[in-house]
Amino acid sequence: MPPASAEREGGADAGERPPSAGEFRDAMRNFVGNVSVLTAGSGDDRSGLVVTSAISLSADPPLLLACVNRASSTWPLIERYGCFGWSALGAGHQAVAERFTGFGGAKGPERYAGASWIKATTGAPLLEDAAVGIDCTVEEMIDRATHSIIIGRVREIRTRPGQGAMIYWNGAFRGLAE
Ligand SMILES: Cc1cc2nc3c(=O)[nH]c(=O)nc-3n(C[C@H](O)[C@H](O)[C@H](O)COP(=O)(O)O)c2cc1C
Repeated sequence: MPPASAEREGGADAGERPPSAGEFRDAMRNFVGNVSVLTAGSGDDRSGLVVTSAISLSADPPLLLACVNRASSTWPLIERYGCFGWSALGAGHQAVAERFTGFGGAKGPERYAGASWIKATTGAPLLEDAAVGIDCTVEEMIDRATHSIIIGRVREIRTRPGQGAMIYWNGAFRGLAE
């Protein structure tokens, strides 16, 4: 075990002051994020968001988790409908990714334009040609700081091989073709 002093030293930039939100965000730019969209609601009462926080939690039972900002337009829909879709984006889905950041001003159902969607078993929307589409019911929502850790129970899995993947690294979306 390293001496306590070495642990405290951390890295070259470590100091007494706790890292700020901006420093944490800058550090996070170096991690590769797996880009997917979470979608919830129905008809005009729909929204969705791009996330890099969605990941598997356990295989048996099949559970996943995602961290969703409670101030987003999608969080209340996930809570009210009790289900959501998790679509893993493929290499060709940059336009979908950008619309679901909301940065261009598209809101709620407008984000669904320009792509095909299906209604999954729970009624949640899934991107038709997603690399993987997973239909979930909400198992638990755990509030921490600005976000909820949403634990989802997997109800249906649709896979579409050959779509590649979409990642986010150093502030940009990048398609990984097979
Ligand atoms: C690459 C990337 C990853 C993101 N990951 C998350 C995430 O894991 N959880 C989250 O709440 N917001 C995340 N966001 C932000 C949401 O996509 C964005 O705040 C949301 O679409 C805004 O929705 P609203 O206009 O409905 O509030 C991410 C944004 C980007 C660009």
